[in-house]
Amino acid sequence: MPPLDNKSPTRSPALIETAGLPADATLARTCRAVEVLPPEQSTSVTNTGVTNLGFAQPAQSVPGHVHQLWALDPALTFLNHGSYGSAPKSVLRAQAAYRERMERDPVRLFKYDLERLMDTTRERVAAFINVNPADVAMLRNATYAMCTILKAHPLAAGDEVLITDHEYGSLHNELERMRVEQGIVVVKAPIPFPIESPQVALDAIVSRVTKKTKLVVISHVTSTSAMVLPAGALIREMNSRGIDVLLDGAHSPGQIPTDVRALNPTYFIGSGHKWLSGPKGSAFVYVRPDMQHLFRPLALSARANKIRPERALFLRDFDYQGTDDYSAMVTLPAAIEAMGSILPGGWPALMRHNHHMILQARKILCSHLGSLFNMQPCVPDAMIGSMVTLKLPEPPEHLKSRPTCYDDALQDVLLEKYRIVVPIWRLMSTNERIIRVSAQVYNTPAEYEYLAQALKTELDIEQRG
Ligand SMILES: Cc1ncc(COP(=O)(O)O)c(C=O)c1O
Repeated sequence: MPPLDNKSPTRSPALIETAGLPADATLARTCRAVEVLPPEQSTSVTNTGVTNLGFAQPAQSVPGHVHQLWALDPALTFLNHGSYGSAPKSVLRAQAAYRERMERDPVRLFKYDLERLMDTTRERVAAFINVNPADVAMLRNATYAMCTILKAHPLAAGDEVLITDHEYGSLHNELERMRVEQGIVVVKAPIPFPIESPQVALDAIVSRVTKKTKLVVISHVTSTSAMVLPAGALIREMNSRGIDVLLDGAHSPGQIPTDVRALNPTYFIGSGHKWLSGPKGSAFVYVRPDMQHLFRPLALSARANKIRPERALFLRDFDYQGTDDYSAMVTLPAAIEAMGSILPGGWPALMRHNHHMILQARKILCSHLGSLFNMQPCVPDAMIGSMVTLKLPEPPEHLKSRPTCYDDALQDVLLEKYRIVVPIWRLMSTNERIIRVSAQVYNTPAEYEYLAQALKTELDIEQRG
């Protein structure tokens, strides 16, 4: 058993005894209802400006049974909602019911019902991100959405695509293919981490714009570094210069207020499975109306050539992308409904709760590991949604090549010894070692205390070699 020095007043003694063998995270969750600390600074409400995410009001307390809404393995301390999310049980049931319906009468489902179901999804998603339903198409995931947009957007040899050095891997790979095949030029704006303010990120991106910049692609919330980038200010600036922007919002709907009409990008990508907690396979894109005539799927639908005056090609293209399991897409409204019903204040209260919880998590981690391992906040509160990334010390040289099932052997250790699920990665920009922690409403402060204790023990073992 690892020698956990657990002083958390909220942790059950039983959990301390079982810590590391593996721990029973259900006990950590008995520490309800969760009172999350108030924010350390106030912000006003807008998601389009450089700084404010609208999380100023205090968080609401959470009903004690909330973790029971999920089917997560109770033995796990699950601190990685950001990667794959996790759908509540009610959403899984709704998806199963749809699948049964599909198999009971497949022809009716595909020939008749599917279009209406897709319209319902489109309407619900469009309302959530505040755009017209006719400008939204469903796709299986953000990776496909990114590729579809890049294939559709007009780019010629020598055109510059401007990105940051914190973008997701699939974007880098897609752009490299386009560099080789089409001769586009990829320009990377370096964003420092730690960072002082959103303005620093904005200036770094804008300073890389040239006369040849044709498209800017940025994450609304970056993947490994978990920074909320100043999308509103950047898009305003690019729109004034006539430069198109693709906003990769894989992490934003459900994590931070996401008003796409106000943001006004050329394209927006959202993930259903991450912070909306929908099923896997439920991403969506917004495409500005004037670009829709160019925007075709990677594989053309058999139904696209059926001329229907009442239904635009954009919709016909994406309503039916071949025989497939559309259950994730058509279940997304159930997820939006379920997650929005957890707290009396609906979605705004949920996002606020998660934001305050992750600030508390950061405080816990830094207070346990700050002096020993120099763990410090890297990002101002105004650039945080409900994930936080912190730097970790490098392991000694001889431990660097330890085998791992994930990306870093420490992640394996945290899972095997403590049943903690949390990603330990390298920053896309500088390759530094980091940990990214998520907060979803089922998480508790006790779980972050537990992570802090486990990290303290294991980093100490690492450093002693
Ligand atoms: C910023 C960003 N964009 C795109 C993706 C790709 O998402 P998916 O795996 O759902 O295709 C991710 C995945 O985590 C991401 O973090």
